[in-house]
Amino acid sequence: MSNETSITRVHARRVWDSRGRPTVEAEVSLRGGAVGRSIVPAGASKGMREALELRDGGKAFGGQDVQLAVANVNGEIARAVLGMAADDQVAIDEVLIALDGSPNRGRLGANSLLAVSMAAAHAAANARGVPLYRYLGGAAATLLPMPQIQIFGGGAHAGRRVDIQDFMVVCPGAASFAQALEWTAEVYRHAGELMAERGSQLGVADEGGWWPAFDANEDALEALVAAIERSGLVPGEQVAIALDIAASEFGHNGRYTLGLERRQLDSDGLIELLLRWCDKFPIASIEDPLGEDDGAAFARFTAAVGRRVQVVGDDLLVSSAELVRESAAAGAANTVLLKPNQRGTLTETLRCWEVARALGYGGIVSARSGETEDTTIVHLAIGWQVGQLKVGSFARGERMAKWNEALRIEERLGARARYAGVGVFGCNPA
Ligand code: PGA
Ligand code: ZN
Repeated sequence: MSNETSITRVHARRVWDSRGRPTVEAEVSLRGGAVGRSIVPAGASKGMREALELRDGGKAFGGQDVQLAVANVNGEIARAVLGMAADDQVAIDEVLIALDGSPNRGRLGANSLLAVSMAAAHAAANARGVPLYRYLGGAAATLLPMPQIQIFGGGAHAGRRVDIQDFMVVCPGAASFAQALEWTAEVYRHAGELMAERGSQLGVADEGGWWPAFDANEDALEALVAAIERSGLVPGEQVAIALDIAASEFGHNGRYTLGLERRQLDSDGLIELLLRWCDKFPIASIEDPLGEDDGAAFARFTAAVGRRVQVVGDDLLVSSAELVRESAAAGAANTVLLKPNQRGTLTETLRCWEVARALGYGGIVSARSGETEDTTIVHLAIGWQVGQLKVGSFARGERMAKWNEALRIEERLGARARYAGVGVFGCNPA
């Protein structure tokens, strides 16, 4: 078999993401004839400790071109992995990391490394004739994640029209992934109707959530509850709220500026505001409640909400096993967001999840705001039994491609499929 899976060709090309920006696609071909292909996504509200994606700079496409990263794959990287066994993911990723040689993947670029890391996994799965989730997780890969779906998009994804970045719903009360999507479809539709009635239906933001034309951040929360109720669903029981505050985007050194409400808060002021929201609204999960440079306050917030609310570290943890270890010791966050392009290889991302899980953390596999039709992350969530998946909203092809892929997998698993539901919180959030 290993001969069959030996890599005979690596080819990258420039393709385009959901924001119309260049990104890297790689194809890995194996001796036995199998081919794997993958496209890397790109973030807009990035953590400062993320692995670096390589962009060309200059005038074309606002400096966002990826010709250098494409050339790195077709040159140095291809030479290094040719002949390697595609089904030895750890060995491939170790070669990629060593070849880059920089602490932040900045020499070859996390975008060039990840494209090859993911394409190799796809090729190996194809060589075995199994779907990627099954290749990654074996027969145990039967857990369908609870989707976390954006209804209003804000922050960096909506010209900072509101401060909070993601107003999302989760469906802990659904019986299956398919039902969670049905419920969310109704909430999304009713939220749009509600905005139309108010005369503020102005299209959608970067990830497909409704454009957040609100006068205060709290108005969006009220609209979200109203949309759940209009859908005939019970807020907090069937459908709960999840927020990504993305506080690093509007605060540094413990000073936070809520532009929409024209006020400044210190760390404890922001904590107090969020705790008030947790009392007032059926909130089950909050991501990046405080800035990535405000770890002590992050820990104070985590302690204050206890196990009542899931506290997710995105910019704080950037999918790093080391940072998860540190923040667990400090008591900051209890769940890690997993974005493969924050690290640059599948192996490092999986390592982060293994360390997090061993420390009692939950996990959420996440897309980026710049996405494509690539559905690898769905397979990671299921193959690695992570239990939650965040992909943006319930509109736009690059988002729906992921939700639809999970539906196919749920159907294929049939009676073996289990829906993660409320169990992922390790508590009763609502
Ligand atoms: P992104 O942000 O724009 O960096 O992908 C998504 C997130 O903060 O979760
Ligand atoms: Zn985030």
